[in-house]
Amino acid sequence: MRILVTGANGLLGGFLVPELSRHGHEVLATGRGPCRLAPNALLPSACYLPLDITDGVEVFDTLRRWKPDHVVHAAAMTQADPCEQDPVACWHVNVTATRFLCSAAEAVGAAMTYLSTDFVFDGESGPYREDDPTGPVNIYGASKLAAERTVLAMKGRRAIVRTVLVYGHSDNIARSSLMTWVRDRLTAGASIQVVGDQVRTPTYAGDLARGVRLQLESGEEGIFHISGADVLTPWEMALRTADLLGLDATLMTRVDASTFSQPARRPLRTGFVIDKARRLLGYEPLSFEEGLARSFGTHSE
Ligand SMILES: NC(=O)c1ccc[n+]([C@@H]2O[C@H](COP(=O)([O-])OP(=O)(O)OC[C@H]3O[C@@H](n4cnc5c(N)ncnc54)[C@H](OP(=O)(O)O)[C@@H]3O)[C@@H](O)[C@H]2O)c1
Repeated sequence: MRILVTGANGLLGGFLVPELSRHGHEVLATGRGPCRLAPNALLPSACYLPLDITDGVEVFDTLRRWKPDHVVHAAAMTQADPCEQDPVACWHVNVTATRFLCSAAEAVGAAMTYLSTDFVFDGESGPYREDDPTGPVNIYGASKLAAERTVLAMKGRRAIVRTVLVYGHSDNIARSSLMTWVRDRLTAGASIQVVGDQVRTPTYAGDLARGVRLQLESGEEGIFHISGADVLTPWEMALRTADLLGLDATLMTRVDASTFSQPARRPLRTGFVIDKARRLLGYEPLSFEEGLARSFGTHSE
């Protein structure tokens, strides 16, 4: 398949581009500005092109020239607080640019897979199934839900892959995450407060990349929840991180999310039920411990 990926310089992109390329797909990795993928991520059959998805003309030109069979749209403004502070920019990147990509994909007959988030839910009753009612509590979640609706209204083949708290380390990127923060603070001997009343199903980025590949190879349409299977609080994730790395967990204090005031409200209990992806795609994630071990290089891939 000829697959165009947006957001290739991001956390998922660092895993997805090599995952697709190694499985025999021809990949056009696109990102904002120069390529930040590791050179071996493009082997054996991927290339890179700068593409700002908010430039509608550039989006149409790129898809017309390259004629992909499939677009995987992973680029987004992904941090909830900047989205809350600049909703216009958030809507432009997350919603308007998704419209450009959907129209261009329709024009060239490409299928679309759109990456979305657990933040489309209100967090009152997670873990969630695909058909549970949505109800975002912040601008980021609302923008991703609006983009989902644009994708679902497309005429061509389309799928939504929702995911949760992605972590991992590839050759090009080591984006900070709860787990890297815990490692760095405890290694420095600093005390930290960690939230114990939120619930998530953290997702190893390598699993997410494989899940996306399985979805697009299957031709299945609709919404898929693709995450880890372990239902954990940040506190539990932090404890397991400290344990794996042999760090001093007594430096950590368990607190409620209400302790922190952040610009964007967070849904309290999310996480996903992944039965549909297991059944229809054959998706099976690593355990959280295995994902952590791969992320911190204590286990080789
Ligand atoms: N990470 C998570 O925990 C998580 C959880 C749920 C859902 N998701 C969803 O999964 C997808 C992938 O996330 P990720 O973790 O890979 O996020 P990420 O590391 O923040 O990557 C997002 C990428 O989008 C790019 N981007 C932003 N604006 C752009 C523009 N105008 N034109 C082209 N590229 C642009 C960014 O470019 P720069 O690198 O230049 O900034 C970045 O490389 C996103 O759709 C996100 O909403 C992520």
